[in-house]
Amino acid sequence: MADQKYDFVVVANRLPVDRHRDADGNVTWRTSPGGLVTAMEPVMASHDGAWIGWTGAPDEELEPFDEAHMHLVPVPLSQQEINEYYEGFSNSTLWPLYHDAVEAPEFHREWWDAYVQVNQRFADRAAAVADKHATVWVQDYQLQLVPAMLREQRPDLRIGFFLHIPFPPVELFQQLPWRRQICEGLLGADLVGFQLNGGARNFVRTCRVRLGLKTHRDQINVEDRIVEARAYPISIDAQGFADLAGTEEVAARAIEIREDLGSPETLFVGIDRLDYTKGLRQRFQAFGELFSSGQLDPDSTHFLQVATPSRERVEQYMRLRDDIELLVGRTNGHIGRIGMPPISYLHASYPRTEMAALYRAADIMVVTPLRDGMNLVAKEFIACRDGNNGALVLSEFAGAAAELKQAYMVNPHDINGLKNVILRTMDDDAANRARRMKAMRKQVFEHDINHWADRFLSDLAPEED
Ligand code: G6P
Repeated sequence: MADQKYDFVVVANRLPVDRHRDADGNVTWRTSPGGLVTAMEPVMASHDGAWIGWTGAPDEELEPFDEAHMHLVPVPLSQQEINEYYEGFSNSTLWPLYHDAVEAPEFHREWWDAYVQVNQRFADRAAAVADKHATVWVQDYQLQLVPAMLREQRPDLRIGFFLHIPFPPVELFQQLPWRRQICEGLLGADLVGFQLNGGARNFVRTCRVRLGLKTHRDQINVEDRIVEARAYPISIDAQGFADLAGTEEVAARAIEIREDLGSPETLFVGIDRLDYTKGLRQRFQAFGELFSSGQLDPDSTHFLQVATPSRERVEQYMRLRDDIELLVGRTNGHIGRIGMPPISYLHASYPRTEMAALYRAADIMVVTPLRDGMNLVAKEFIACRDGNNGALVLSEFAGAAAELKQAYMVNPHDINGLKNVILRTMDDDAANRARRMKAMRKQVFEHDINHWADRFLSDLAPEED
C-alpha cells in the first residue's frame, strides 16, 4: 500500500503513546513518559500531521494508525537495537555526556553502529511519508543523524531539529569519538533549536573549532547553505493544565491527598522520572538530615516524592533506585512513627489528572536536578496552582531557571545550601511567596507551548519572495 503523505511530520524516538497489554491480553495505549511527549502533544493538535516513532516494545511491525486524534507512524526496533541504540548509545553514551557527565558516559563502537542503522530507518520512514516541500521536525538526542540522512534523500524538505536536553560545552562534547558525525548529522537541518542560548552557543563553537566551519553569531556556513542555531525554551499547554487542575474532580482529589497524608501544615512534593540527573540522592539526603535534626517537624511537615520508572534495564538507573530506596527507608525507619512516616515515596507513573491533583495539594514543589534541559514539571506546577500561593524550590541547573527567576534557587550539589533554602522557603511570608508566584505564572502563561512552536516553525518556514 502506498504511504499516506503529510505536509507536517514530527520524528521522535517514541510515539506519544506506549502500548500496554493487560493480564487478559487486551491492548491499551497510554501516554509515553517524559517532557518531550507532554510538550509535543498539543503541537500536533494544532498541526494536522504525522508523528513517526517507536511504540516502546521490541519487534513490533505495525501499520500506521490513528490514536488520540493523531496520525501515528510506527518504526520497529529489534531487542538488540533497543539494547544498543536506545539503552546503549542514546541513554548510556549521549544522555550522561550531554548532562555534564554526572554519570560516566560509555563509548562502544557497536552501539554507534546501531545508532547509525536506526537513525537511517527513521530517516527513510520520514522520507516516505513527507509530502513534496513538507516541513519535517526531528526531535531530540536519539535522532541527531536524521536531518542529514533525510536531506540526502529529500532536498526539497524544510528540516528542523530540536534538542530537548542540554548541548554540552565543546570541552565535554569532544570526548565523543563520533563528534564530527553527530555535528554533520544536525547540520542537515535548516534550523537547529536548543533550550537555552548556552546550548546554541556550544554547538556553534563546536562546529567552528572541531569542524573548521565558518560561523557568524547564530549562523553556520555549510557548503552552499546557512544553518541557524538558536534557543527556543520549550513550554507546556499552560491553559490546558490550568483547566484540568480547576475541575472539581481534581480539587477534591487534592484535598483527599492531604488528608491521606495526615493533613500536614506543610507538604513538600517532588515529581520526577527516576533519573540520576534529577538530583534525587541529594534531595533525599537533605530532607533526611532536616527531619533527623528536628529542623523539619515530622508531625507538621511531609515530603512526598513520586519517581516515575524509567530506563529500568540500564545499570545506572538500577543503582539509583536502590540508593533512593535505602535513603528513604533509613529516614522513615529512624524518624517515622506508626502510621506517620515523614517521607512518602511512590515508584509509579500516574495519569495527568493525578499529577494535577498533586501539584494542587503541594505547598512547596521541589525541583532540584543536577542538570536538566528545561524541566516541565516546574512549569506544570505553576500552571496548576489555584492563584498565587505555593512556592517553587528550583535548581540553578534546570533550563527553567532562566525563565522562572522568582523561584527559590538552589545549587543541588550543596546539601547545606539546599537545606537552608528548603527552610527559608517554608518560613518566607505569604506576601513574598505570592509576589514570586505571580511573576512566574505570568511568564508561564505568556510563554506557552504554542508560543514555542509558533516561534520555531515561523523561523523554519522558507522566506517569502
Ligand atoms: C526526556 C527526553 C525524551 C525522552 C523522555 C523519556 O524527556 O528528552 O527524549 O523521551 O525523557 O525517556 P524515555 O527514554 O522513556 O523515552
